[in-house]
Amino acid sequence: MEGFQVSSWTKDFDNLCDYYTHLLKKSPTGTIHIHVLGNIITANPENVEHILKTRFENYPKGKPFSALLGDLLGRGIFNVDGESWKFQRKMASLELGSVSIRMHALNIVKSEIESRLIPLLSSVSGKKQVLDLQDVFRRFSFDNISKFSFGLDPGCLKLSLPVSEFAEAFDLASKLSAQRALAVSPLVWKVKRVLNLGSEKQLKEAIKMVDEFAQQMIAERRQKGFSESNDLLSRFMGTINDDKYLRDIVISFLLAGRDTVASGLTSFFWLLSQNPQVESAIRDELERVMGSSQQQQLPSFDQMREMHYLHAALYESLRLFPPVQFDSKFAQEDDVLPDCTFVKKGTRVTYHQYAMGRMDRIWGSDCLEYKPERWLQNGIYVPENGYKYPVFQAGPRVCLGKEMALVEMKCVVLAIIRRFNIRVANPDQAPKFAPGLTATVRGGLPILVQERGA
Ligand code: HEM
Repeated sequence: MEGFQVSSWTKDFDNLCDYYTHLLKKSPTGTIHIHVLGNIITANPENVEHILKTRFENYPKGKPFSALLGDLLGRGIFNVDGESWKFQRKMASLELGSVSIRMHALNIVKSEIESRLIPLLSSVSGKKQVLDLQDVFRRFSFDNISKFSFGLDPGCLKLSLPVSEFAEAFDLASKLSAQRALAVSPLVWKVKRVLNLGSEKQLKEAIKMVDEFAQQMIAERRQKGFSESNDLLSRFMGTINDDKYLRDIVISFLLAGRDTVASGLTSFFWLLSQNPQVESAIRDELERVMGSSQQQQLPSFDQMREMHYLHAALYESLRLFPPVQFDSKFAQEDDVLPDCTFVKKGTRVTYHQYAMGRMDRIWGSDCLEYKPERWLQNGIYVPENGYKYPVFQAGPRVCLGKEMALVEMKCVVLAIIRRFNIRVANPDQAPKFAPGLTATVRGGLPILVQERGA
């Protein structure tokens, strides 16, 4: 895109992703080249398939990305390419595909809902006390993913909403690592790191705390014995002896599985506040599948599978508000994309999930409307081509936690709307996002809670 002014978008757009969406909609190919940033950005499904599948080997995450997160993630799956990625991918897919780990994940979610989420919402029900739902979901998903990955319960969602030093250190470390990308040149943060200055000093301290927690966890696991436990760490310990490598593997899961789920749930509840008819339709389906008695609080896998409308409502919300708004790769060699865009070796190539959900050439002229029906034919959910909807990425590196994330989100949605009416405090305010690895709403999502039938 010639004549692009990086600083000018703030006047007309709330979010940088809205500005890119505007540019991508205007581009006849659905692709733009921002020369000043050395970045090609695309919202063209054919290009996305080319990058993520057809020429997968030519588009690794690459060194510039792994350098940003390298101190925090080390050699974890999220941050590596090549053989190391293949090895972890194979091992993790086997684990996550097993029935026993899926049951284990569901039990963790159910227990967190019953013993923490519902009591917390009940405690503010009917009061004028405003609760930040985004914060609640971040605490919820941190407890969940920590129990799942390490077998550790940080207790972030206990009724007193305590401060967890582990969660805080982890938050700060991910935030500061992501902020490295905002430096004018990588040289800036690299020099600060060598000199141990400012944000780099803070980052080093935060990572040190994360490391200490992880080491403690690994040592405890080894002492207690790991063969009987179901958490990921224990499962990986059967194959891997290197403690640093184990630490890296589980930290990647923590990063991948925490903020994404919280972000997806937060925007889902914002969309419900704008679309009460969708909430009613979910309640109707819930009663049809689970009955109207309150006795069974949470659905079984089979019952979830029957809820096509709920599934569609979640897919539709992730289309408009993908937790990962864009994702970049780096070209290994010169290449030409299917829309004839030339890619020079070393160029950053980004596919833009957020813009793709808002392209009328992909979704039709009603693309900005929240319509779960879009995904249904005769009440049955029909999947879309994954390269039109790369919300969980697609191809060989597709998200490993997709099924787990959907189960977690469904359980939370059903538990909340079955029992409570949620009123968003500022319904007219559309989400404004803070920069970071995952879409986070600035100022959170303040809500008021009322127990139904109370
Ligand atoms: C709504 C929730 C979620 C969304 C939208 C999402 C989205 C994504 C995306 C876009 C990627 C590709 C990132 C990249 O390559 O740069 C990814 C990768 C990954 N996700 Fe998810 N994710 C979600 C939840 C989860 C959960 C709950 C887990 C863990 C249990 C998880 C584990 C992973 C892992 C391990 C990878 C790396 C896969 C690889 O590199 O081979 N995700 N996810």
